[in-house]
Amino acid sequence: MGQGAREHAIVKALIRTGTPAADITVAPGNAGIAQEVHCEPGLDPNNPLEVTNFALQHKVELAIIGPEAPLIAGVSDALRAQGIAVFGPSQKAAQLEGSKSFAKEVMSAAGVPTGRAHECSTLEEVANALDDFGAPYVVKADGLAAGKGVIVTDDRAAALAHAEKFIDMGILVEEFLDGPEVSLFFLSDGKGVVALTPAQDFKRAFDHDKGPNTGGMGAYSPLPWLPANFVEEVETTIAMPVIQEMDRLGAPFVGLLYCGLILTERGVRVIEFNARFGDPETQVVLRRLITSLSGLLYKAATGHLETSALPEFSKDVAITVVLASEGYPDSGAPNRPIHGLKDAEADAHIEVCHAATAEQDGELVSTGGRVLSVVATNRTFAHARKHAYEALEKIHLKGSHYRKDIAAKVAE
Ligand code: AMP
Ligand code: GLY
Repeated sequence: MGQGAREHAIVKALIRTGTPAADITVAPGNAGIAQEVHCEPGLDPNNPLEVTNFALQHKVELAIIGPEAPLIAGVSDALRAQGIAVFGPSQKAAQLEGSKSFAKEVMSAAGVPTGRAHECSTLEEVANALDDFGAPYVVKADGLAAGKGVIVTDDRAAALAHAEKFIDMGILVEEFLDGPEVSLFFLSDGKGVVALTPAQDFKRAFDHDKGPNTGGMGAYSPLPWLPANFVEEVETTIAMPVIQEMDRLGAPFVGLLYCGLILTERGVRVIEFNARFGDPETQVVLRRLITSLSGLLYKAATGHLETSALPEFSKDVAITVVLASEGYPDSGAPNRPIHGLKDAEADAHIEVCHAATAEQDGELVSTGGRVLSVVATNRTFAHARKHAYEALEKIHLKGSHYRKDIAAKVAE
């Protein structure tokens, strides 16, 4: 389920690791996904009844939920109640992503390292919390906001204005954490976890981390600068304690635990959890996966992760650069034609995942903010970057923009 570049990347990885394309259906999908597998554009992935009826009728063996909205809407619970294997946590367990204050409570109970935070329900409380921590200010909406709910700023007035916009959701004011960011995904069957490979996301809209936060403008994997025992450390100090605490709460977490981390001088800190694959990190993480993806997700969904083969990843690196439409993330652009995609995809090192595309009168058009995710693999980051940016130059979408500095630091 889903319709973004993440879901396109999942489909490509399923096929690449052995699932026949004819066995896959995506609801609703997009123009790119529809070129590879059957799509059900009319099926609403957020409607538990519709999804369950479809799954029963078509004898679905494994349901994979891409975005957070169906999780929050209880689609996993409805499918599970009918005995269908689902990769995606229950409504209750998805609160790890849906509510930042719930996530903080779980981390506190599980002894997981994270930034100190104040929960605020009035602007007066926000103002006090801002003064308590001092600048830079970190203000977070306590609910789903498509990657746009967080502001990090030195400008106290801007921090307050952001809080005012989201005050009805509740606000979390957090201490500023300084250091590089890492996204690390764990598959979980509710009891144990299996780590995938680390990636880095570029959240700001413009080069050199300028501009507003977005859903993600690019990513790369692996991260050659990480300490050797990093994945094991995150598994034992963060992922396992959280999975155990969720089980203790009667809300076992079955699906993908996305750990958003900052490596501070005082150690690793959690900045957020998500209850699903990250976008655009999935495009690079799964591009490097060699092991059967459907096998891994099925084992997680059915509570047998401990009997699963450990995921193996290619030694090649992967980078992805997101092509965004004019005005993203601040304002919307009209649907516009996209040209040059075939030419860009002719390079064997390139895959293009569609995010917001549709066919209109026989022509491919953009339909939203993040339009395409160009993925390149190669032996080195320098080579991967060269291919990615050459491909982007071949793609034409009026007014579009993309970051030029994805993985630049590791390519030096
Ligand atoms: P989140 O949605 O919580 O991941 O926040 C979005 C982005 O804001 C993160 O990827 C970070 O770049 C930044 N951010 C969030 N929390 C903090 C923090 N406590 N200190 C510094 N930057 C943060
Ligand atoms: N790339 C950030 C996210 O998926 O939430």
